[in-house]
Amino acid sequence: MVALNILLTKALDYIDQERVAIKKLHKAHDVLSNAYRQKKGTSSLTTSEHIKAYFTARMPATFASIYQCLSELPFESPPETMLDLGAGPGTATLAALEKWPSLKVATLVEQHQLMFDLSCRLFSFLDLPTSIRHLQADLVKTSFKESFDLVVLGYVLGELGKEEQLKVIENAWNATSQFFLIVSPGTPFDYDILMHARDFLLSKGGFVVAPCPHQKECPLRETKDWCHFSVRLNRTKEHQKIKQASLSYEDEKYAYLLFGKESTKNPSQRIIKRPIQKSGHVIMDLCTVDGIKRETISRKDKEAYKKSLKKEWGETC
Ligand SMILES: C[S@@+](CC[C@H](N)C(=O)[O-])C[C@H]1O[C@@H](n2cnc3c(N)ncnc32)[C@H](O)[C@@H]1O
Repeated sequence: MVALNILLTKALDYIDQERVAIKKLHKAHDVLSNAYRQKKGTSSLTTSEHIKAYFTARMPATFASIYQCLSELPFESPPETMLDLGAGPGTATLAALEKWPSLKVATLVEQHQLMFDLSCRLFSFLDLPTSIRHLQADLVKTSFKESFDLVVLGYVLGELGKEEQLKVIENAWNATSQFFLIVSPGTPFDYDILMHARDFLLSKGGFVVAPCPHQKECPLRETKDWCHFSVRLNRTKEHQKIKQASLSYEDEKYAYLLFGKESTKNPSQRIIKRPIQKSGHVIMDLCTVDGIKRETISRKDKEAYKKSLKKEWGETC
């Protein structure tokens, strides 16, 4: 469970001050849900209520999954610079700052006027010691002269056409000095996009850091299954109200790819489904160097069984 972190809570408090009637927000949330269901993307969000609905009902989940992915980064020392592409309100930047408050410079690139404006207001309110640079630009047409320790593309690729995706990935990769993280919704559609990104980055000499335990073709590609993970997050009261949801938490399914400029040691296996706990054993589906494997850990093997009870979907072992 990703708790509601300090920065995210502050950000949500800030947006709460920009009071919008709940009725308007319900309507805005419907527009938001339809836009994403129909793959219309952020460009169909045209009012400040739509943006507030994104911020309150969607951004905590994208924050949670990006935050979870950041744990996979094998930085020897905390990153100093980051580039947040298709930043929206600045979700990836907030997640990175939550992890590494010492981050010196964050550059946020966003083209949508209302998102851009909200992000500028938010970061000015947060008044952080990190130098925050906002750039309003189209990612497809923007290449960067400088490079960044960490580049993040959070929930953007699905909004672009195939050629645009490759252009944005290329620009992002050229701007990366150490690690490039792509996070997307955990759907078969987005998994497919990530597989093209993976092929492209491997062809550019990049190294897969996570989630794969190898640099080979994804073994799930030939199956009906797809690689994705899940994170549980708390909902705020506002979040619950907007979604008219009764549960105080939600599970966000996501897919991701982490690439490095240099080779790092990959884990030997990763748990690719929620482990199934039976009375005398635990069943785990694993991605390994040798492909997909199902492992059954019996209670008789005391040590391994004890360990397996603590293991979660997405972890390495
Ligand atoms: C689903 S939102 C994700 C926002 C944020 N990264 C997050 O994870 O919460 C996608 C963002 O990418 C931006 N975007 C899409 N295409 C873009 C482009 N060509 N140039 C700049 N920003 C773009 C959208 O305006 C939107 O803010």
